[in-house]
Amino acid sequence: MKLQIRFRLNGKEQELFAEANLTLLDLLRERLQVTSPKRSCEEGECGACTVLVDGMAVNSCLMLGVSVNGRSVETIESLGATTQLHPLQKHFYEMAASQCGFCTPGMILAAKSLLDRNPDPTVDEVKDGLSGSMCRCTGYVKPIQAVLAAAREMRESLQQAGRESLP
Ligand code: FES
Ligand code: FES
Repeated sequence: MKLQIRFRLNGKEQELFAEANLTLLDLLRERLQVTSPKRSCEEGECGACTVLVDGMAVNSCLMLGVSVNGRSVETIESLGATTQLHPLQKHFYEMAASQCGFCTPGMILAAKSLLDRNPDPTVDEVKDGLSGSMCRCTGYVKPIQAVLAAAREMRESLQQAGRESLP
């Protein structure tokens, strides 16, 4: 059975018919050709398929596509462009926190969800925020440092903007 769904994907309205049992991961990858959410364990264990739904990090392999009807979905493409990286992307790149890159879109989205809720996390809070993302390459130290550096930069930008808006 197919159901009609409408949702926003990276800010753009999508409207399509989807099988009721299609996962969000398959909806994105196979139906909409958005391949940044990676297919790996398909059991909710690795976090490679992480996307944001209404700002919260979710494993798209465990979520039905039809359940995003009326909601907002973001993949890594929503964050920045090569000419203007999001601070998380910039620090992952500059600090070599990404090696093969397979886990990176999911890990950065998990970090974004964390920083949107907690702009000044402790090391333990970053570890907790990234705990759903498995990485075979980096040993996690550099990703954690990159998230802390991005958080610092984002806080400083906010403070600077606040100072500039003062009369
Ligand atoms: Fe979804 Fe591993 S592919 S958690
Ligand atoms: Fe290779 Fe994380 S950078 S799995």
